[in-house]
Amino acid sequence: MKNFVVTTSHKPDKEQIMKAQELAESLGTIYVPRKRLKETNVDFYYVVERNRLSIKWPGGEFFFHPSSAVLRMRNIKSGQKDYLIEVLQPKGNEIVLDTTFGLGGEAILMAAFLPEGKVVGLEGSIHIYTVVKYGIEHFETDVKWLKEALKRIELYYANFKDYIRKQPAESFDVVYCDPMFENPVYESSAMNPLRPFAVYDTVDEEDVREMLRIARKKVILKSHVKDSLFKRIKVDELKGSKKSGVVYGVIYKR
Ligand SMILES: C[S@@+](CC[C@H](N)C(=O)[O-])C[C@H]1O[C@@H](n2cnc3c(N)ncnc32)[C@H](O)[C@@H]1O
Repeated sequence: MKNFVVTTSHKPDKEQIMKAQELAESLGTIYVPRKRLKETNVDFYYVVERNRLSIKWPGGEFFFHPSSAVLRMRNIKSGQKDYLIEVLQPKGNEIVLDTTFGLGGEAILMAAFLPEGKVVGLEGSIHIYTVVKYGIEHFETDVKWLKEALKRIELYYANFKDYIRKQPAESFDVVYCDPMFENPVYESSAMNPLRPFAVYDTVDEEDVREMLRIARKKVILKSHVKDSLFKRIKVDELKGSKKSGVVYGVIYKR
């Protein structure tokens, strides 16, 4: 999926057209008025709606929604444990680097437990970054914890492999990394629209050494039990769900 343009929803206002033109320029493509979209032969297209930015393609759509964070928070509030929050053990003032931001579900959940801290997120796919950054900045909600958590997130377009090597030692309390699974869980429907645009880098020992160098407390890695990550990388602690096969590994800073 490579060829794309930027358009608006039907009957756009002037502001939408301007936004679409600016976005097209910043992404190095062209703006196509909605009425002329049929004439263009593209793999996908951005749609600038009034309060939303999405990417559409035949049979699919990708847009930001914090639904996975909302669901996990609901479970936590009803007394269930969440393995990520359990291994994070937040005091509330930590600065967490989320090296693989994706849809931001886990970053939002972590940020909710950091009233005095923040989450710095990195996303290496320009399309995921563009849609999710817009979504985080424009999402409207009356849910207080979510509103506050969204404000405690900073998102950057960067490949974590380059970024972590440029940071001074101990610049973050916790470094979190959730690369794409080698064995995708297609039932995880929230992730499915992101898959065509995702970066599929693997995490190696050198990356983990760099993550530990820039962390003050710990590095948390996420993987699927069937994947090779925890066979290749030694961790101090593993926590996760046998049912889903999703596990979090923690390496403490010594
Ligand atoms: C499994 S998803 C993360 C999901 C995220 N934890 C959430 O709650 O939505 C992995 C994301 O990391 C991104 N990614 C993979 N390798 C990366 C890299 N080297 N640098 C930055 N982002 C990367 C992918 O494009 C994808 O969006």
